Amino acid sequence: MDQAEPIRLQKFLAERGVASRRAAEQMIAAGRVQVNGKTVTDMGVKIVPERDRVLVDGAEPPAPPQLRYILLHKPTGYICSVRDEKGRRTVLDLVPAAQRLYPVGRLDYDTSGLLLLTNDGALTHALLHPSRQVEKTYWAETEAVPDESGLQRLRRGVYLSDGKTAPAKARIVKRLPDGAVVELTIHEGRNRQVRRMMEAINCPVRRLKRVSVAFLTLEGLPLGGWRELSPEEVARLSAYVRQETPKRR
Ligand code: URA
Repeated sequence: MDQAEPIRLQKFLAERGVASRRAAEQMIAAGRVQVNGKTVTDMGVKIVPERDRVLVDGAEPPAPPQLRYILLHKPTGYICSVRDEKGRRTVLDLVPAAQRLYPVGRLDYDTSGLLLLTNDGALTHALLHPSRQVEKTYWAETEAVPDESGLQRLRRGVYLSDGKTAPAKARIVKRLPDGAVVELTIHEGRNRQVRRMMEAINCPVRRLKRVSVAFLTLEGLPLGGWRELSPEEVARLSAYVRQETPKRR
């Protein structure tokens, strides 16, 4: 996300990799930091990175890291962590390693589909924050065909061990000889939520794929493929998470 807003000096220094936030506070208190030619020792000072000139020990802090946004079509068989103690493959094995990127949320080892990876901590935080209600759509191949009352239960919210789910959008995409493909749109992010919701209506999931997040889809991306988001998509995503949620519906 852009940084046209004022931010605390110690946060700015930490984001530029000068020091941790606490160590940056000590540097400020020690009189080592100047803003626009004046030494600043007050902790409350805010700056606008594009406007104000900050020097630490007389030198400019390093340039901000380039923000990157990758949309990955995750195959099953990869975990969504930076490292795995069991030595399993991680989603980072699928994307270029030039910069440290982090998955935005998680898909299970046995789930495929759309996963964002970025080093933009502010956008990640916003996308995952429950108040933003970011819509995620899944296609679940189930072992039974849900009836209308099952679909209604998904739409109203079902009771799971960690409480009732928020209302979801649910519809049958396709009937199969031994089950169905069900499209489910949720905005919560509980552990194995879709699988548990479908189990709650007696339709266990055989295969699960996330087909969209907000307005982003997998269109044109083969399994295991990735692409950078365009600047327009990044701007739209930032606007999406800032929007009043009811207006999206
Ligand atoms: N719900 C699940 O059950 N699994 C996922 O990976 C994502 C959502």
